[in-house]
Amino acid sequence: FSAFLTDSFGRQHSYLRISLTEKCNLRCQYCMPEEGVPLTPKADLLTTEEILTLARLFVKEGIDKIRLTGGEPLIRPDVVDIVARLHQLEGLRTIGITTNGINLARLLPQLQKAGLSAINISLDTLVPAKFEFIVRRKGFHKVMEGIHKAIELGYSPVKVNCVVMRGLNEDELLDFVALTEGLPLDVRFIEYMPFDGNRWNFKKMVSYKEMLDTLRQQWPELEKLPEEESSTAKAFKIPGFRGQVSFITSMSEHFCGTCNRLRITADGNLKVCLFGNSEVSLRDHLRAGASEEELRRVIGAAVGRKKRQHAGMFSIAQMKNRPMILIEFLLLLQ
Ligand code: GTP
Ligand code: 5AD
Ligand code: SF4
Repeated sequence: FSAFLTDSFGRQHSYLRISLTEKCNLRCQYCMPEEGVPLTPKADLLTTEEILTLARLFVKEGIDKIRLTGGEPLIRPDVVDIVARLHQLEGLRTIGITTNGINLARLLPQLQKAGLSAINISLDTLVPAKFEFIVRRKGFHKVMEGIHKAIELGYSPVKVNCVVMRGLNEDELLDFVALTEGLPLDVRFIEYMPFDGNRWNFKKMVSYKEMLDTLRQQWPELEKLPEEESSTAKAFKIPGFRGQVSFITSMSEHFCGTCNRLRITADGNLKVCLFGNSEVSLRDHLRAGASEEELRRVIGAAVGRKKRQHAGMFSIAQMKNRPMILIEFLLLLQ
């Protein structure tokens, strides 16, 4: 395994997330403000050629899974072409996408033909009116159509990402679980995380433990599945159900110890941690004509600086006007 993708804690990085755009056709409350995010000028975003150049280099060095993300990756006009070209890289075993599902049913046949192998769809509620409240746009039925299309075309499991927020959709956990009875879904309940501007509130986070209790009350036979290496999710299954349910415990039990991920932002910054703010611009090096060797050195240095675990909690601690309860929570976690 390539030394420069191994960090100082011995973690080998084999999973690269590439953001194709910062834009999105939804405005989920926990992610974006109503007015959207300030957009990077187009000239500063990675071109398709640059994305491919970087992907080729990373795959040569041991990345075997690439996930396309956003914003909403399916609004990039040449997304099908990008998937097709990634598919030609030898050594790349998985090409996944994380999408809000709005454009999925329409694009999936082409994406599948191009080589897309895994699909994660965000859906936080099964109630259409609540959907419109959470994402501040219409589109619930389109997302459902996308989920069914993915199943119909043979993706299994189709992962559904559900960010759980107290007072908003915590009452729907059992309805989501019920979906897994007949459908090959992996419904993944995600602990609500703090990001700049999402007005994160400790009280709105529902912890993994609490969600598990709710499920166990209804389904005592809930069975824990073996842990997959470097997975973000802890998986469970109700015997006899086709699908499964999982928990992504970014807040209460982080999984930094086995992290194998790197990410490239739409404007070409390499981020070695989701929460970290030390970024290095691969775009600038590419545009300055850096050789492959130089790029390797820059990437290796960034991976070498990767911290043992995320600073998510510390960034919360630096927030202005943080409520007392949050400080107590932070102390508890130390
Ligand atoms: P798989 O590749 O199918 O395992 O998906 P994934 O969970 O890696 O990616 P997805 O895009 O579906 O993200 C789902 C959730 O995982 C996000 O909301 C985050 O909470 C969490 N997540 C993804 N990547 C990271 C990461 O690098 N660090 C942390 N802490 N959480 C992450
Ligand atoms: N907390 C937890 N998950 C989030 N996502 C976006 N913002 C947050 C947040 N604040 C999820 C989306 C998507 C995935 C990539 O990240 O639901 O499925
Ligand atoms: Fe953010 Fe995804 Fe919602 Fe778009 S669909 S606003 S990128 S969470």
